[in-house]
Amino acid sequence: MSGELSPIDKAKFVAAKRAADYVEDGMRVGLGTGSTAAWLVRCLGEQVREGGLRFQGVPTSTRTADLAREVGIEVISLDEAKWLDLTIDGADEFDGALNLIKGGGGALLQEKIVATASDQMVVIADIGKEVEHLGAFPLPVEVIPFGWQTTQALVEETLVSMDVLGRQSTLRMNGDRPFVTDEGNHILDLHLQRIGNPRQLSLVINQMPGVVENGLFIDICDAVVIGYGDGRVELR
Ligand code: 5RP
Repeated sequence: MSGELSPIDKAKFVAAKRAADYVEDGMRVGLGTGSTAAWLVRCLGEQVREGGLRFQGVPTSTRTADLAREVGIEVISLDEAKWLDLTIDGADEFDGALNLIKGGGGALLQEKIVATASDQMVVIADIGKEVEHLGAFPLPVEVIPFGWQTTQALVEETLVSMDVLGRQSTLRMNGDRPFVTDEGNHILDLHLQRIGNPRQLSLVINQMPGVVENGLFIDICDAVVIGYGDGRVELR
C-alpha cells in the first residue's frame, strides 16, 4: 500500500500503521482527518478486508467518512456510538505536555467533539510536528459566518491582552471564496507565533460570541505515535 514514498509520507505512514495496532475487535473508534489520518483509515481498511478486523468507525469529516466507506470500514455516527473506546487523529503541532494545535484541514470542531467523547486519544504525526511552544502553526478558530468580520476584530482586540507574540488573523479561503467547514462555518487562522498559555487562550477565545471552537486541544491527547522519514517510530 505504501509503495515508494517521500520521507514525510513514509513518516506519516509508519506512525499510522503502528497506531492501527491500538484498534481491537469490537471497538468503536474515532477516525481523524488529514493526510496522516487517511493513512490510518487505509491501514485499518486493509485489516478489515484481509485480516477480519471488526470495529465501528466514527469519522470526523465527510472526507474521512467517504474514505472509510470506500476501504470497507463500518461507519456509524457519534450519536449511534454514544461513547468511543479510542480516537486516532493527526495534528498540526504537539508540545511536551501533549497539547495540540489541530484544524489545518478544517475539521477541528468534529475532531474535538469526537476526541472528547473517547476513552483515549492517540495522535499520529511525523516528527516535524513536535514543537517546544505551540503557535508557529496558525491557530484555526471556527466562527459562524454571520458577522465574521466583527468576530475577527473582537478576537484580534482580545489577543492584545494574551501571552502571544503575533496578533494578526486571516480568513481561510478556498480559491476566491471563504472556506466552509462541514458545519457551514468559516475559519480564522490566528498568526500567533508563540502561545505562552494555551489553556488560558483557549478558554478566552471560546467565550467570544461568534466563535464556535478553536484548534487548541488541551489535556485531550493521551499519547503521540511519532513517525520518522527512515521508518522509525517513537511513542510519547
Ligand atoms: C484536520 C487536522 C489534521 O489532523 C491536521 O491538520 C494534520 O493534518 P496532516 O496529517 O495532513 O498533516 O487537524 O483538521
